[in-house]
Amino acid sequence: MLRVFIRAAAMRVELSLGFLLLMCIFKETTQCLIISEVNCDNPKLDTHEFVELYNDGMNPTSLDGYTLVFYNGNGDIAYRVIDLSGQLTDYRGFFLVGSAELTPHPAISLPPNSVQNGPDAIALYGPNWDPVSVGGHVSGVGLLDAVVYTSRRSAEGADGLASVLTPGSVPFLEDESALEGDESIQRCWQSGNLWTFYTGPPTPMWVNHCPPPTPVKVWINEVDINGPDRQGLVELNLGMANWTFSLVLYDITTDLISSSVEVSADQGGIFTIPVQTENLAVPQSAAFALYGGPSTDFPKGDPLSHKQPIDAFVYGDSVHMPSENLTETLIPGRKPFILTESFPTAGVHVSRCGVTEWTRDPGLFVTRPRSPDKPNDCVWFQSCPLNMTFSTKAGPSYPSIHSGIDFLLNEVNTNTPGGAEDEEFIELWHPSGSRMSLDFIWLVMINGQNTEVYYELELNGYFTDDDGYFLIGSAKVGPDIRIPSNIIQNGPDAVVLYRSKPPPSQESQNIPRSGLLDAVVYRTRGSDKRVSEITQALTPRQIPLLEDISALPGDETLSRCGTERLNLSAFRVTSPTPRKQNNCPTKPTIPPPPEGLLINEFNILNRTDDQRLFVELKGPPLTPLNGLVLVFLGQDFKEFSVPLTGSTGTDGLYLIGNVSNADQGLPVLGQLEFAAMLLCFEPSGSGVYGKNSRSLDWLVLSDDPKLHRLLQHNTTRVESSIFDSFSRCASDGPVLWVSSQETPGLQNLCPSPAFSSSMDVCLQRKSKPGNCDQEELTYLLENVCNCGISSLHVKGVNVSCEAGMLDAQGPVLAVSGQQREQITETLNNNKLSCSPAQERQVHGAGSPVALQVGLVLAALLLFALGAALFVYLYKKRRPADYLSMQLSEQVETPLEL
Ligand SMILES: *[C@@H]1O[C@H](CO)[C@@H](O)[C@H](O)[C@H]1NC(C)=O
Ligand SMILES: *[C@@H]1O[C@H](CO)[C@@H](O)[C@H](O)[C@H]1NC(C)=O
Ligand SMILES: *[C@@H]1O[C@H](CO)[C@@H](O)[C@H](O)[C@H]1NC(C)=O
Ligand SMILES: *[C@@H]1O[C@H](CO)[C@@H](O)[C@H](O)[C@H]1NC(C)=O
Ligand SMILES: *[C@@H]1O[C@H](CO)[C@@H](O)[C@H](O)[C@H]1NC(C)=O
Ligand SMILES: *[C@@H]1O[C@H](CO)[C@@H](O)[C@H](O)[C@H]1NC(C)=O
Ligand SMILES: *[C@@H]1O[C@H](CO)[C@@H](O)[C@H](O)[C@H]1NC(C)=O
Ligand SMILES: *[C@@H]1O[C@H](CO)[C@@H](O)[C@H](O)[C@H]1NC(C)=O
Repeated sequence: MLRVFIRAAAMRVELSLGFLLLMCIFKETTQCLIISEVNCDNPKLDTHEFVELYNDGMNPTSLDGYTLVFYNGNGDIAYRVIDLSGQLTDYRGFFLVGSAELTPHPAISLPPNSVQNGPDAIALYGPNWDPVSVGGHVSGVGLLDAVVYTSRRSAEGADGLASVLTPGSVPFLEDESALEGDESIQRCWQSGNLWTFYTGPPTPMWVNHCPPPTPVKVWINEVDINGPDRQGLVELNLGMANWTFSLVLYDITTDLISSSVEVSADQGGIFTIPVQTENLAVPQSAAFALYGGPSTDFPKGDPLSHKQPIDAFVYGDSVHMPSENLTETLIPGRKPFILTESFPTAGVHVSRCGVTEWTRDPGLFVTRPRSPDKPNDCVWFQSCPLNMTFSTKAGPSYPSIHSGIDFLLNEVNTNTPGGAEDEEFIELWHPSGSRMSLDFIWLVMINGQNTEVYYELELNGYFTDDDGYFLIGSAKVGPDIRIPSNIIQNGPDAVVLYRSKPPPSQESQNIPRSGLLDAVVYRTRGSDKRVSEITQALTPRQIPLLEDISALPGDETLSRCGTERLNLSAFRVTSPTPRKQNNCPTKPTIPPPPEGLLINEFNILNRTDDQRLFVELKGPPLTPLNGLVLVFLGQDFKEFSVPLTGSTGTDGLYLIGNVSNADQGLPVLGQLEFAAMLLCFEPSGSGVYGKNSRSLDWLVLSDDPKLHRLLQHNTTRVESSIFDSFSRCASDGPVLWVSSQETPGLQNLCPSPAFSSSMDVCLQRKSKPGNCDQEELTYLLENVCNCGISSLHVKGVNVSCEAGMLDAQGPVLAVSGQQREQITETLNNNKLSCSPAQERQVHGAGSPVALQVGLVLAALLLFALGAALFVYLYKKRRPADYLSMQLSEQVETPLEL
């Protein structure tokens, strides 16, 4: 057994990327155009903004048919559209759109401050797009690439854009304080076809500055296998000194150890280790693995170790592939590196080039020339990230990415009947119940005896299914990531979920804390029930869960039946339901509410003073409101659920708000910009709007067609907004909502015959006339009156039109005596009425109406004459002015003579 003790004075080395880009290797693959860098915010004045595109393939390349669209996160609409037709990338593949003052000079110049600072997005569309114009709504049709970003100043608000442009992913946060001076958002290659964004100093028309990470302990940096004489060299990058580890080589024909090398070094750095590969049965396929511990733990001929390796590199060719057992054990969730046909003659030289901190992923490696003891010779561009696009049609629409909520451990099966333990699994779930990216999510298993991390798995690049589930487990359960049988220990142990960029074990090998999302601490029958160190650290003062193997005749799991995070009381022992809703004991079902519960009045549109907001419900008197939820949906589809308690009063009303006589308070809604409000029944009693929620009543304020599709309701018609409060009033048409003085907790003020006045007027139509209906009449009247007239006020009025005139006859209703006065005053206003000449024109046309009107006029004239005569005669007898008073009341009829 070879033991290598390296005590070299190695220099500190950094990978430097992209140097060789100038020598661009032309790949045979189809061209790939991406948004490679965005600088949207400069210190002080934004005069050095830019968007850089990069094309991998033959260059220069024509950009005919491509379009860049800049979207505003406020409303998710396009604020700038740039057609790239007629443009070319440069000979290296770069193309720049940016401020005129920028050097190098952009091909398309923009005025200063053209690129918004976030929450916003920039999207690149290919030739098959559905054109979006300035002011148009965000679209996924023909999308090639997109960057959705937010800033620290406003970290929210890009969720709507992300749900269309990068579904399931969280928008990138551009941290303007990351660097002194300017910084940009740069695309960096991670592994396979995974890309990410980094914040770095701007590099317009140049390869991105993608900072190479350093290993926590040690990782494989280069692998060099000489084809003909089977000489192997493995270069290690060591981040931690003064410890002992072993490099083990497995023979894939037997899954047994072929050789092992012990390594220790008194300082960090890059070291090259020779490996005996000549004994491999098949040179085209093998596996290297790094383990902690001396090489005596890994003698030649031993089977595949159960221990989790620190790093591993597994390779094969199209004919010789390692076993699934070996792949699952050494590189869970990842695929072996595939050798090319030239291997027998040329061998293989691969370098770690992916800019990530995870290990055990051959996808991080690319074939590059060897660079012994030097930074890896990497090129910036390794693969096209555009495989996940939905080029010619829009992808499925996701309601919201819910950046406020995060993953939960949903079901854990640590112990299965029989000795094989081959149905173990861990199910993760995103409470949005929709497809979500698992980038930066780590699953960690911690040993309860010594509190050490014994298994750590990164889930970068993976997504949950469309119901939010993700499964890690033995092959038998059909998981998304397969792990070998019998990995998950039976307890007392813990399964823990983290959101973290570096591996959680980097913080501590013993119960990492930062980025903790959820934890299940469990025990076996007979193990100590009392507080252990992991309980103390993860779920303090709680009793570890017991997966009672005798609870059910078959297998059983620890299943989440509540939504509380880091709270073991949310779990029950149930039968296994991988990738399905947990088999939780059914809660006493909440009876559905009676018919007739409605939103009756609301004052939520004017957000200057949130203390004044209220929503009033109306239904049958004394109805319990169990299971009812009032849901507010924001413009960005963010939702906010308010579970209702108590019951309606004897008058059938129920008031929610922070006003004096409210039945229930309204929590602070913060920045939420209302797009819709729903009154829902949620049968589960969770108090949160979900898939099974049934909406009883709704109010759609936004014109967003996406929202209309989601809710299956169009915009609610709300006329006039002279008052902040809107009352539901009985109507046989589409208009229900009448703007009126607020009456929280009291019956609504609705247009009523009790306050009616009769109208008989001729009105001048506006230059753009309406449909000659009650709606147009409402508009004409309200325009002058400004007193809250809705079409419900004039529903009994007959309307006819001719030659720019609108004739209205019938009763006008009002909500109060005061409003009636305002209306009569308006009707007497000459500004509104037709001029006598116009009227003659209308009425002189000889139509039956005109004839009738003419007759009425004649009759009135005669009457007036008669009256004058009568008054004259009467006054001669009695001086009292009684009839002239009646006459002046007559003048109130709008026909002015
Ligand atoms: C490792 O040990 C050597 C000698 O025992 C010591 O000089 C050196 O500082 C140690 N290195 C680290 C990083 O602790
Ligand atoms: C996988 O390898 C382990 C040795 O680590 C062995 O015990 C187990 O039987 C193997 N499983 C299969 C299915 O070959
Ligand atoms: C694209 O993705 C599909 C499935 O996700 C895969 O089969 C295919 O090989 C990928 N293509 C490239 C060029 O990566
Ligand atoms: C766990 O959740 C239950 C039910 O919601 C609650 O009563 C309890 O206080 C919670 N415990 C902890 C430690 O948060
Ligand atoms: C909103 O309400 C405030 C009082 O809270 C009032 O001063 C303001 O005029 C209202 N704004 C609108 C647009 O009605
Ligand atoms: C309403 O009152 C509750 C408690 O009484 C308080 O928590 C809440 O912040 C108030 N809401 C607003 C919008 O001020
Ligand atoms: C919404 O409006 C569209 C077009 O006006 C109409 O076709 C559709 O039926 C309406 N949907 C509902 C739910 O009212
Ligand atoms: C409105 O017109 C209808 C039919 O033309 C008529 O029956 C009704 O009496 C009219 N109403 C008024 C208030 O003039």
